[in-house]
Amino acid sequence: MTKEIKKIGVFTSGGDAPGMNAAVRAVVRTAKYYDIGVAAIYQGYKGMVEGNIQPLSTRSVANIIQRGGTVLKTARSEEFRNRDGRMQAYENLKDQKIDACIVIGGDGSYTGANIFTSEYDIPFIGLPGTIDNDIYGTDLTIGFDTAVNTAMEAIDKIRDTGSSHDRLFFIEVMGRHAGYIALHTGIGAGASTIFIPETVTPIEKLIEKLNRSSKSNKLFNMVVVAEGNENGDAMTIAKKVKEHYGYEARVTILGHLQRGGSPTSVDRVLATRLGYSAVKCLVEGDRNIALGIINDKLEKTSFADAISKKKDINKDLLDMANILSL
Ligand code: F6P
Repeated sequence: MTKEIKKIGVFTSGGDAPGMNAAVRAVVRTAKYYDIGVAAIYQGYKGMVEGNIQPLSTRSVANIIQRGGTVLKTARSEEFRNRDGRMQAYENLKDQKIDACIVIGGDGSYTGANIFTSEYDIPFIGLPGTIDNDIYGTDLTIGFDTAVNTAMEAIDKIRDTGSSHDRLFFIEVMGRHAGYIALHTGIGAGASTIFIPETVTPIEKLIEKLNRSSKSNKLFNMVVVAEGNENGDAMTIAKKVKEHYGYEARVTILGHLQRGGSPTSVDRVLATRLGYSAVKCLVEGDRNIALGIINDKLEKTSFADAISKKKDINKDLLDMANILSL
């Protein structure tokens, strides 16, 4: 018999992502429907260790569905990496009579959940919240669609000035280990070349393209670079291209602006669906799983698989982008 859940702790962890608030709202309101209490654990695992836990009423999540960032705050926690820290976290959850937790975050957050649930009897449900989209077991992560749209709109603006001056632009987008943002933004913004961490694109390939385009009088070129690609960051690539091949370029690093802003409808619906499903899964007896949506269907993955398995990037999309950017 699985233990009945009377109170849930909800928290956001790792890099914030637009849509996290929509997920929190859905958790609180669905829990209310099932007559389950909800407490906010502020600042993720850090707040769990420090006992920064407060009750959340259904009213307290009003007016947050449209807000970026996370109203529950997020932080990194060194303490939770240690056994003593996790024991303190467990005691705090017990003191607050929390029977289960819902964590919204990326792979680091899932790793914490996996370790904690192997040591203690408080079950966790994980919801994929990261702009990077690099979580196994879901087509999309909460925040990805908004981040891509934000980056694409920024690049559209750079295109206006870049094409006016016939300039070569390097635009760096986020994704330390994942090229999803770069790939989708690059396709959406019509980039000439896209550098991502999952595949090596030699700089010479870019040079061939630049040579071809200067012969055909196409002087404006936009290159999208994922921060974690093998050739180095956008600044480094631009420097090499100038020093070795004589092409002058401008560089824009979009940085954290990609993480902010009001979530798109795609992210709001995804987050709401996942938040609702997380509570429903707990009510129906599911324990220690990560949720995702694949082909429009709810999918359940063990934390171990969600952490260790890699979601493959669609290389056909990269080939397509190359063909289209002649
Ligand atoms: O949230 C994911 C991410 O945005 C990565 O794409 C990026 O490399 C990293 O977070 C940046 O983290 P921080 O905010 O700690 O600099």
